[in-house]
Amino acid sequence: ADATILDFEYEAHTSPVAGADRAALLANPGFGKIFTDHMAVIRYSADKGWHDARIEPRRPIQLDPACAVLHYAQEIFEGLKAYRMPDGGATLFRADANARRFAESARRMAMPELPEQLFLSSIRELVSTDRDWIPEGDGASLYLRPFMFASETFLGVRPAQEYLYLVIASPAGAYFKGGAPSVTLWVSEHYTRAAPGGTGAAKCGGNYAASLVAQAEAIGHECDQVVFLDAAENRYVEELGGMNVFFVFDDGSIQTPPLTGTILPGITRESLLTLARDTGITVREERYSLDEWKADAASGRLREAFACGTAAVVTPIGRVQGRGFDFTIGNGGPGLLTEQLRQQLVSIQRGTAPDPHGWVERL
Ligand code: PLP
Ligand code: COI
Repeated sequence: ADATILDFEYEAHTSPVAGADRAALLANPGFGKIFTDHMAVIRYSADKGWHDARIEPRRPIQLDPACAVLHYAQEIFEGLKAYRMPDGGATLFRADANARRFAESARRMAMPELPEQLFLSSIRELVSTDRDWIPEGDGASLYLRPFMFASETFLGVRPAQEYLYLVIASPAGAYFKGGAPSVTLWVSEHYTRAAPGGTGAAKCGGNYAASLVAQAEAIGHECDQVVFLDAAENRYVEELGGMNVFFVFDDGSIQTPPLTGTILPGITRESLLTLARDTGITVREERYSLDEWKADAASGRLREAFACGTAAVVTPIGRVQGRGFDFTIGNGGPGLLTEQLRQQLVSIQRGTAPDPHGWVERL
């Protein structure tokens, strides 16, 4: 059988949440706290391949205490969003790019690759089933979290022979509390996120586990997010705990760290590079050191900086702190070019501007 065109079996289910209660939840969803009624599930085993695709009521999953993921962390995930259209319809943004990155993450973690078409149909089926959960409004969307883990009951250290792939969905507003106009970063000079040859370019849970102590350090210094430096020299800016980073200069050019294998190849990053090039902005994918960052902020050569990602969209960086330093970028608030790029991206995602690159799919 062609595993790329599995039919999803539906388990009938009435939402336990009344319409009025759902409306109240959707009015102020926050991030990652509330969930829809269903989940998509597909199983994999070495002998059967991908099989048993289902849309089920969202519910706990039972795992044996010897389940491989609980011991050796063979797990990957994705993050993408569905948006509500003014006419009540739904759209997805670049889901095919998430499908490709999911397959690349799987390869790095010695996991089976989910065929791109199966990834896409799992997303489409879940969004269509739970479309009443897509919030309305400018900053709101339905955050989709596809993930896969080693589900085999076995304690030997080798790639598992059984996996579970699931998609859950969570109505979401702004990632940062109160939709902050700009965020403050903490530079982690003690902890690094990913080393050359490691898993930095894969979206695996382990990368986030490794980042949490540094993120906690950032919060301890009243900063919003941690920014990591490269592991080899501890000099060059890599990315934030959960976002890529861009710099905007006084000559109107923009710069972002190159994809050297230690940072996540963000889809928002790639989309913004494309939109900037379309607009005639000079774009560099080049290393940028913490020393340059400090000097350029002080001289005024650096005008703006921003974080970008699916959850964060485009968020201005106002201030940067670390051991023995603390500097402000521009006037500490949102910059003009940052706002222009954010607007361009968001209006394509929300279907209010033309989509020259075919990034938006209507469901
Ligand atoms: N970097 C990290 C570590 C992330 O977790 C994310 C979020 O997904 C990104 C970058 C941005 O990636 P994307 O724009 O594809 O969401
Ligand atoms: C995303 O943007 O999808 C992420 O995975 C980042 C995380 C901070 C939620």
